Amino acid sequence: MDRNRQPIGVFDSGVGGLTVVNKLRKLLPYENIIFLGDSKRNPYGSRSKEELLQFSREILQFLTEQHVKLVAIGCNTVTASVYDIIRKDVDFPLIGMSRGIRTAQEISVKKKIAVFATEVTIANHAHRRMAEQMDPEIEIIEQACPGIADCVEQGKLTGPEITALLKKYTAPVLASGADTAIFGCTHFPFVQPLFEKLCGDKIVFVDPAHEMSLQTLDVLKKDSLLNPHGMPGYLRLCFTAKAERGAKLAEHLIPANEFTVEEIAL
Ligand code: DGL
Repeated sequence: MDRNRQPIGVFDSGVGGLTVVNKLRKLLPYENIIFLGDSKRNPYGSRSKEELLQFSREILQFLTEQHVKLVAIGCNTVTASVYDIIRKDVDFPLIGMSRGIRTAQEISVKKKIAVFATEVTIANHAHRRMAEQMDPEIEIIEQACPGIADCVEQGKLTGPEITALLKKYTAPVLASGADTAIFGCTHFPFVQPLFEKLCGDKIVFVDPAHEMSLQTLDVLKKDSLLNPHGMPGYLRLCFTAKAERGAKLAEHLIPANEFTVEEIAL
């Protein structure tokens, strides 16, 4: 099979990775994309390294069987915890979720950048370590947000439960004086309006999915893997459970007639 025409794989614990798919499709409209959301086993945000390794390997096996030419990991938790291990397992380019530090650095006047992420991502200090390398003067304020990805997954994008959680997590960040915040979990852009409502004009939010799509474009170009077809690419959304619910949430980002949905077993 002509390698350039093979699909790009994207995966996450659930619908969060769709925020990455959405940006990828805008920048790379001719690429075919297969997305895998592991909705049967999410959330991933407080899972052990062993579990994340096993789940990621099963997903990569599935995507390999679909003949992907590249995989973009639409999950910060997997990237922070096991990327260095799983990248050696595959013989196609594997791109870890971007941290968004570059964009945040350009925006932040005070060099005080907050990161909202899962417990695993925060425990790995993934963003702090990268920021230190780029500019030691940047202060990273880390905020773990258990429960948010789960609410998003259940379609609770507004209402008392998600509002109470976000109030709890934004309060210390507002008190820290940060002027910029990174969504360090791909589920969080689904509730960006609520984050913005609670933070007023004090904080600018950065969605690293944009950096991620630019990075993917770079790799495709460098490896001469861009699809030359010139026709809109297909989008296959695969979920390990609750595919209908996944499709409903996908429709918040992507028109329903632009994707197909299936439930698969890993
Ligand atoms: N969306 C994922 C991330 O970026 C995982 C969220 C979860 O399943 O807890 O970290």
